[in-house]
Amino acid sequence: LFRYPFSPHPQRLNKSNPSSTYEEGNKWYQSNRETMSTYQPEDSRKVTTHRLREMKERGEKIAMLTAYDYTMATLVDSAGMDVILVGDSASNIMAGNTTTLPITLDQMIYHGKSVMKAVKRALVVVDLPFGSYQGNPMQALDSAIKVMKITHADAIKVEGGSEISESIQRILSAGIPVMGHLGLTPQSINKFGSYNVRAREEAEAKKLIADAHLLEELGCFAIVLEKIPATLAERVASELSIPIIGIGAGGNVDGQVLVLHDMLGLNEGFRPRFLRLYAEMGQAVRASVGQYITDVKTRDFPNSEEQY
Ligand code: KIV
Repeated sequence: LFRYPFSPHPQRLNKSNPSSTYEEGNKWYQSNRETMSTYQPEDSRKVTTHRLREMKERGEKIAMLTAYDYTMATLVDSAGMDVILVGDSASNIMAGNTTTLPITLDQMIYHGKSVMKAVKRALVVVDLPFGSYQGNPMQALDSAIKVMKITHADAIKVEGGSEISESIQRILSAGIPVMGHLGLTPQSINKFGSYNVRAREEAEAKKLIADAHLLEELGCFAIVLEKIPATLAERVASELSIPIIGIGAGGNVDGQVLVLHDMLGLNEGFRPRFLRLYAEMGQAVRASVGQYITDVKTRDFPNSEEQY
C-alpha cells in the first residue's frame, strides 16, 4: 500500500477549512458527515472463501478492511465486515516503519492472534511478510503453516504473480487458502522506486492480466489489485471467476479494501486520491487528549463523583 512519505508528525488540519491542507481526498466533511449508518449483514454465519465466490456470482460487493489488534477487530467484525486483512501495513501503521519490509513473521503472527481472538463472522486473512515466502516453496509453506497453526486465521495473502507461483502451489497443496495481490505490491517498493499507479503501460498491464489468470488457475480464492487503472481492474474482474478486491482500482471490481486507520482519519499524513475518509479520528483523539490534559492540570479531573 502507498505509505510514502510516512510522517510521524503529520500536518495539522486547519480547523476552519479542514480539507484545505490536503491536495485531494478529504471527502468526509463534504459528503459523509450526515450519512453515517450502521450495517446489518443478512447472513450472520462465518464468511468462507466459498461464500465470497457466491457473492461475486450474485453481484454482491465484498467489503474488506485491515485490523491489527483485538479492540479494532472487535469493532470491525461486529459492524458486519466480510473480510478482515491483518495486513503487513501494520509495519507502517503499528510500528512506524516507512515501508512494509521490516515487519517479521512473528510480528504478523502476534497481530493475527490478537485479531482472531476478536472475530466471530469475518473471514480473516493474514499477510505473509517480506522475506518469509520469496526464498523457496518450502520456506513459503513453513511460513504459511506457522501462521495458520498459531493464529487460527482462515487464509494467507502473498504479493506477486509468476515469480512466486511454485510457492503459492506449495501452500495451496497443504490446504491453506491463498489470496493473491497484484499491481502495486509494496513489498517490491525497492524495485519499483515509487508508489505511483502501476500497469499504465501495455507490457505491465499484459503481465498483470496473465498473472491474474495464473493465480486463478493455481487455485487462489481471491486477488487484491492495488493502485492500477480502473479499466484494467474491471477487465480482470470480468475475465476471472474468483473475486477481485480493489484498492485504488476503481469501482467495477468485486469488492473494496482500505486500511482502517486511513479511512478513519487516524493516519493524518496519508490522503491519496483513492481514499474516502469516513471519520476524522485523528482530530478527535487529539482534542480528547488535549481536554484531558487541561482537566488534569486545572484540577477539574477527577471530581468528587469520580473518586472512591
Ligand atoms: O497490508 C495491507 O494493508 C494491504 C492492503 C491490500 C490494504 O495489503
